[in-house]
Amino acid sequence: MPDCRAPVAVFDSGLGGISVLRELVRTLPMENYLYFGDSLHAPYGTKTPQEVRRLSFDIMERFMSQGVKTVVIACNTATSAAVNALRDHYDIPIIGMEPALKVACDRGDTAAGDGTAPARHMPQHVIVAATPLTLREHKFAALMDRFKANNMISPQPCPDLVEIVESGRLCDHDLVMRTLHRYFDGYDLPSIDSVVLGCTHFVFYRDYFRELLPSTTAIIDGNRGTVRHLGMVLESLGKLAPEEMDGGVEIANSDSGERIAALSRELLHS
Ligand code: DGL
Repeated sequence: MPDCRAPVAVFDSGLGGISVLRELVRTLPMENYLYFGDSLHAPYGTKTPQEVRRLSFDIMERFMSQGVKTVVIACNTATSAAVNALRDHYDIPIIGMEPALKVACDRGDTAAGDGTAPARHMPQHVIVAATPLTLREHKFAALMDRFKANNMISPQPCPDLVEIVESGRLCDHDLVMRTLHRYFDGYDLPSIDSVVLGCTHFVFYRDYFRELLPSTTAIIDGNRGTVRHLGMVLESLGKLAPEEMDGGVEIANSDSGERIAALSRELLHS
């Protein structure tokens, strides 16, 4: 079994998981991170679950040969298609991600006076922005089932938002706003309580979503929760890197071109 000084592996279909890596480095800077982006095969969100599982296994094999102590699937899509199969097969902790719907729905709870169970729940209208595959998979249906009786949940696939990040056009304000309007103009936005960013690529659009949405609409992502979860898992296994260790980041990608490498660095420091 790898020891606490072994690296933490992080992967995504491409560059989206760098939004998670950025949060990991801020919160657990003593760890060594090996990031793998599969930009050559992105997007995953329009593939079949079988294809995404096969690609995820290939990436896991690479990480296992590098002796990593844990893997963060910084991709909601790969999590929904592959996390169960990967956990069955590999004997190291695998942290997955799913749209932070619970956080959004819990905003409707008013705490009881004694601070225990919620006294009242105001039904929330929540848009979950994610990839078509995430929203189609059983895992998301099960998540919706937990909350849909007391809330209104609108799943919204936004596949083009992945492509814009991968092609390095995130700074193209007109293109991004046009794309967001195409996906969201059909909603009565002032009545929306929150938008959940259920794809790690979409976290890079936070400022654009802020521009699109009324100030009363919350924008929620699962990155902090994922990082907290990883910290707790490593701590409970005695595998957190020692505080005094100098952490680091290595980024690899199935697209070995300099454009992707430069874009990765830029996003990590954004
Ligand atoms: N970043 C990924 C996610 O969180 C998937 C994007 C894609 O490749 O379609 O779902």
